[in-house]
Amino acid sequence: MKEEQNNRGLKILIVDDVADNLSVLSSLLQAEGFRVFAAISGNLALQALDTLVPDLILLDIVMPEMNGFEICARIKERESLRNIPVIFISALDDPQDKVKAFSSGGVDYIGKPFQKEEVLARVKTHIELAGARDKLETLVESRTHELLENQKRLKKTQQLARLGSWELDLVNGTLYWSDEVFNIFGLKPSEFVPGFEAFLERVHPEDRESVKMTYLTAVKDKLAYDLVHRIVRNDNDDIQYVHELADHVINEDGEVIRSIGTVQDITNLVTLDKERQHYLEKFKNSLEKTVIVVSATLEKRDPYTAGHQRNVSELAVSIAKELNLSDDTISGIRLGSIIHDIGKINIPSEILTRPGKLSDLEFEMIKTHPLHGSEILKDVEFPWPIAEMVLQHHERLDGSGYPNSLKGDEILLEAKIIAVADVVEAMSSHRPYRPSLGIEVALKEIEAGSGRLFDEKAVSACINLFREKDFKPFASS
Ligand SMILES: [Fe+2]
Repeated sequence: MKEEQNNRGLKILIVDDVADNLSVLSSLLQAEGFRVFAAISGNLALQALDTLVPDLILLDIVMPEMNGFEICARIKERESLRNIPVIFISALDDPQDKVKAFSSGGVDYIGKPFQKEEVLARVKTHIELAGARDKLETLVESRTHELLENQKRLKKTQQLARLGSWELDLVNGTLYWSDEVFNIFGLKPSEFVPGFEAFLERVHPEDRESVKMTYLTAVKDKLAYDLVHRIVRNDNDDIQYVHELADHVINEDGEVIRSIGTVQDITNLVTLDKERQHYLEKFKNSLEKTVIVVSATLEKRDPYTAGHQRNVSELAVSIAKELNLSDDTISGIRLGSIIHDIGKINIPSEILTRPGKLSDLEFEMIKTHPLHGSEILKDVEFPWPIAEMVLQHHERLDGSGYPNSLKGDEILLEAKIIAVADVVEAMSSHRPYRPSLGIEVALKEIEAGSGRLFDEKAVSACINLFREKDFKPFASS
């Protein structure tokens, strides 16, 4: 019963010119649940196959008009029927007939008189086989399609990413390039044979030696490498930037036999980065000019401290260089120091310029200038912490400074450096209320406060500048 269920719907075409044979085979297969179609001649069978697609065909050989071999050959000519298994069933027992049966496209041969069990067993086996083969074919077809689609996608992606791949066989010296490598180098695959020396020819002359050495060293050390260099395109001599990644295949004897790598055109990225750098430089320069103009405005209003900020800036930058700080940090210090007293713009000029000692109230007023300065600057988006430098330039390590009594590491290094330069410049310059105290007195003052009030390294760098390096300060005042 279960078997019958399984076979239900499976169609079998029987072709035999003897009606009794058709009848016996039909009953046998119908009893097993198959849907049976019978044809009494080859022509009728071929006609039926115009609309019928059976799962299996049982075919007699000796028939009038058209024999079984010819019918089978005609069936196999039709694309839609080609995969239907054909089993010959015949009284012929000459081995030559069997050979002919298989060569005309049959999958099996059953002798007459036949055993019912044999017919059933073979029919079932071939239907199952055909089903399995169809599934496999569909699977292979869809996988092949998927693979081709993936390859297309990969190629497109590589084109978009300007990414090529290469493979160098170190045993026979052949170099394979993907199409995208040819594109990157401006070469045509039909006109150029890739090779290591030919590749080096296309590398920018200034990079050629280092590219060659990087590759040879990587092979010798059996290590992957990662390299950015320039190439010169063959078609228009344009200089392009490429990023190379490569690794090696090593054989059982530990020898490198092949190198595999990718090459990506990153010219756009490099150009964008250079432009970005250029604009950042321009921005910083214009910022510096603006700050200098603002600082000069303040100095006009306060002639007694004319040049003070510029002098402090000059000394603070020299101290920063002495401390080997980065160029970027030094740029920040230059700007912060040239504007460090900008908050004095809020203090009446008669207090700033009046000779003689200040009252406590007046001094309290003076002490607000770092806060005013940072208020003015805090909303300007400098690439450095300028507002903080201005706010903190009167802070001292032990917390005795103002306005926030910050201590030690709470104070920015930039502010600590400006503090030292500020004190030295102020003491060694003429002030409305006193003449210059001289550079030595100024240096002794910071030396005495080193580590307690002032940053030790900044102090010793400053002293070193004056005593060892003959620093000639304040030329502009
Ligand atoms: Fe100040």
